Amino acid sequence: MTTKIIGTGSYLPEYVVTNDDLAKLVDTSDEWIASRTGIRNRRIATNESGIDMAAAAAEEALKDSGMDGSEIDLILVATCSSDFQFPSTACLVQKAIHATNAAAFDLSAACSGFLFALHTAHAYICAGIYKNILLVGVEVLSKLIDWNDRSTCVLFGDGAGAAVVTAADHGMEGFVQWSDGMGGEVLTCPGRKIENPWKENDSETEYIQMNGQEVFRFAVKKVPECIRQVTEKTETQIETIDWFILHQANSRIIQSVAKRLGVPEEKFPMNMEQYGNTSAASIPILLDEMSKKGMLQPGQKIILSGFGAGLTWGAAQIEW
Ligand code: ACO
Repeated sequence: MTTKIIGTGSYLPEYVVTNDDLAKLVDTSDEWIASRTGIRNRRIATNESGIDMAAAAAEEALKDSGMDGSEIDLILVATCSSDFQFPSTACLVQKAIHATNAAAFDLSAACSGFLFALHTAHAYICAGIYKNILLVGVEVLSKLIDWNDRSTCVLFGDGAGAAVVTAADHGMEGFVQWSDGMGGEVLTCPGRKIENPWKENDSETEYIQMNGQEVFRFAVKKVPECIRQVTEKTETQIETIDWFILHQANSRIIQSVAKRLGVPEEKFPMNMEQYGNTSAASIPILLDEMSKKGMLQPGQKIILSGFGAGLTWGAAQIEW
């Protein structure tokens, strides 16, 4: 018994913000951003909420899987930018898609969120607790960004991706997931300030703060390491993997991972040029894009790998 992805969906906001648009806000340029990150455009939610985007991606994934909302046993939403503190985005997606028989909760693992949600779903399925699970990665990072900070505002975008997984006799072949809370200070977002009559106001910024070089070093070390770990676990030769679908943070990170693994870059599809870094949404958005383009064929071996704040990272090997 294992876990198989049987449907995918995605939603990207209509509004496009280009690097040139950002150059009007902060001291930057298309050349600087594109050469260091591979990003040229990003979508920003103007008319859509995170829940709207998550529900749209979920509807599409359900349709692709041939399932109805009522057949879903569990909804797991990976996000670090939910619309509400509560109810969870997962419960609000449940309402939108009429998943009347599901349990629902959110999971926070930043850019590794979708991968960690997939592993969680796999554990539930293998334990025989749930059969059909809806996974969503959704982010409205535009609300966590200081748009005066050129070192972070050029990197991120908004969007949602979803997948329906079910119990099957093939699909997930192995996974590894890791966290390092001791290294977490290199990428943080403090969240709401505590304001009550008994506490001195703290002056911390509520926006994303990042030590870019440290995050870069972390990613190019840990991603190849965990990909090797998962292929060793499944006794698979790395050269037999058809696709490496990595979190879309930065093209230079992905190029470096490809080089360290000795795998041709063509096996590492990328779409951050158009969407920027959409955190927990980036892997399912890319998966859906590849599925719609007919790039994913039955029997192909695929590695999914996420990495992000926490620090968190991991990899899954699946057979499509
Ligand atoms: N435009 C122009 N100049 C800029 C910009 C910008 N947008 N941002 C920073 N700079 C300047 C800095 O101020 C600095 O100027 P100085 O030398 O006068 O002090 C100079 O560029 C170099 O800054 P660095 O931070 O050293 O730039 P670096 O070459 O490391 O590139 C980057 C920054 C692109 C963020 C890089 O470190 C990186 O790719 N890191 C990975 C982080 C990442 O992808 N994070 C995504 C989120 S995390 C995740 O998804 C896992």
